[in-house]
Amino acid sequence: MAQSQSSTRTIPDIASVPRHIAIIMDGNGRWAKQRFLPRVMGHQRGVEALREVVKSCRELGVEYLTVFAFSSENWRRPAEEVSFLMSLFLKMLEREVAKLHENNIRLKIIGDRGRFDDKLMQAMQHAEQLTADNVGLTLTIAANYGGRWDVMHAVQAMLREHPQLAQGFAEEDLSPYLSMSDAPEPDLFIRTGGEQRISNFMLWQLAYTELYFTDVLWPAFGREDLDAAIASYQKRERRFGRTSEQLPGKQSPDGQGKANDHGAGFQK
Ligand code: IPE
Ligand code: IPE
Ligand code: MG
Repeated sequence: MAQSQSSTRTIPDIASVPRHIAIIMDGNGRWAKQRFLPRVMGHQRGVEALREVVKSCRELGVEYLTVFAFSSENWRRPAEEVSFLMSLFLKMLEREVAKLHENNIRLKIIGDRGRFDDKLMQAMQHAEQLTADNVGLTLTIAANYGGRWDVMHAVQAMLREHPQLAQGFAEEDLSPYLSMSDAPEPDLFIRTGGEQRISNFMLWQLAYTELYFTDVLWPAFGREDLDAAIASYQKRERRFGRTSEQLPGKQSPDGQGKANDHGAGFQK
């Protein structure tokens, strides 16, 4: 099952391209402001930056790209900006889906859809159905998504199906109900726009992800910035709780450093 490939349990080959990249695309408003443009122009240019990054990820052989497009907290923004973002999202789905499909890209949307209007919900469903069998790259867009919502929603869904688990349950019981249950956990997290925070993105799944922050504003983020993030990732040492000596290829001659392959956390 896909969950067993969770990167918390298996140490990925650091020299290779990350299998799963998660991005908080931040800085659209500031990009526009610097140019004396309305904030929404930044969002518009942000879609172009995303198109470019999707193309690069496909070329590089990244398997999963997950991007934060609209947080459950972003409803707090001025009504005009929210409605611009909603229409941009709809336009993007209508215009780009055929091209994504041609390129063998699977599109998924995570988040609480209940608050979107019918037209947008239908476009989301159509895009997911059309691209469901594609295997080139899985592009997941987080919209009206929050990491806490994800965990709460998963617990509720799990208990609805298995009321007896109210007595106690394990990570493995919960994980199939989380939004990203069919993907390995992100290897590399990128946040553009200079802020160094998670802003309620994938709280559960980022437990052991390598974090990368850049001041580049999202609309200006391009291939060379993605390459720099990946190069930084490839210099990291992912230990998942183990010591450096226990990592593959680093065993000491007396075998002291031998890795024990139990998962993260306590085993019953
Ligand atoms: C990120 O850019 C896009 C969304 C949150 C939709 P921002 O709009 O947050 O840009 P800044 O942070 O104000 O520059
Ligand atoms: C996070 O960006 C959400 C998205 C990029 C969609 P924000 O700009 O909304 O984050 P905060 O509020 O500054 O933390
Ligand atoms: Mg922001």
